Amino acid sequence: MSLLFENGPSVKQKQLLNGQQVTVNQLMPLKYHWAWEHYLNGCANHWMPNEISMNKDIETWRSHALTEAERLVIMRNLGFFATAESLVGNNLVLGIFKHITNAECRQYLLRQAFEEAVHSHAFLYIVESLGLDEHEVFTMYHTIPTIARKDAFEMKLTSALLDPHFSTQTSEGAQTFLQNLIGYYVIMEGIFFYSGFAMILSFHRRNKMTGIGEQFQYILRDETIHLNFGIDLINGIKAEKPALWTHDFQQHMLALIQEAVELEIAYAQDCLPQGVLGLQASAFRQYVQHVADRRLERIGLPVQYHSPHPFPWMSETIDLSKEKNFFETRVTEYQAASTLRWD
Ligand SMILES: [Fe+2]
Ligand SMILES: [Fe+2]
Repeated sequence: MSLLFENGPSVKQKQLLNGQQVTVNQLMPLKYHWAWEHYLNGCANHWMPNEISMNKDIETWRSHALTEAERLVIMRNLGFFATAESLVGNNLVLGIFKHITNAECRQYLLRQAFEEAVHSHAFLYIVESLGLDEHEVFTMYHTIPTIARKDAFEMKLTSALLDPHFSTQTSEGAQTFLQNLIGYYVIMEGIFFYSGFAMILSFHRRNKMTGIGEQFQYILRDETIHLNFGIDLINGIKAEKPALWTHDFQQHMLALIQEAVELEIAYAQDCLPQGVLGLQASAFRQYVQHVADRRLERIGLPVQYHSPHPFPWMSETIDLSKEKNFFETRVTEYQAASTLRWD
């Protein structure tokens, strides 16, 4: 073998974007250890929706135990998430994946894409279990304006990457790509998901619709890792290509996040016109702003709102979801060993 092939490209030449020297097939040696850690954490959290019993929820849904306002909250949340999970999955696979030129990040993206499929599966499973009108739930991204506006906001960011002439080789292209990462990881998974999490988990803590609540706990646990990976990726690209992070671009990202905050507040108020379970629509303005400030901090943008956290129990739920032994409540066992049989 010639010396040229003996040494091969160095790990130092790995790059997140526009990597030329090291192919996307070279996983080791690892350079971005954070990407591998997120991958391992995602795998350690494996779950499937049909492992969670929906019997109690079916009973509650059929009885008169829920008010119309409570039913509206649940339906609007299912309607938003049912499509949002697909948008995230498609953006990952069709938009983000091909432009990330690093093997360990791609390994994580493959894991995340599977998790988004599991989340879509969860919404199908909930709709089937409760006998809901599947057409109604899965078309709310057209029929409910506050959902349609959030989705249109995201779809515009995906279509910019789907242009056949799109490339990250120019600074403008690389900024558009970074905008997509901020639009999906920070805004969609980091802000747009959170009022829904708060609403559904407030049912769960009052011991109502606990099957849906448990599915949301698993989803929230996965989404926490998606968000952390996305923030590491965004900050990693900023560190490798500081010229992209101009003052104008930062102002533009700030305006995008502020626009998203208003879309999310409008959606939350639409779900809770009269308030339910002690949740008032007005509290969601504070909550969404509080969450947005936490996201801004993590990508190095100035906090905007300084709103207090109106639902301190949400922090407890998030911390608990890290500690909870999720396997205790499962109704089926994994079949990994038996699937190895070839007969
Ligand atoms: Fe998801
Ligand atoms: Fe996600």
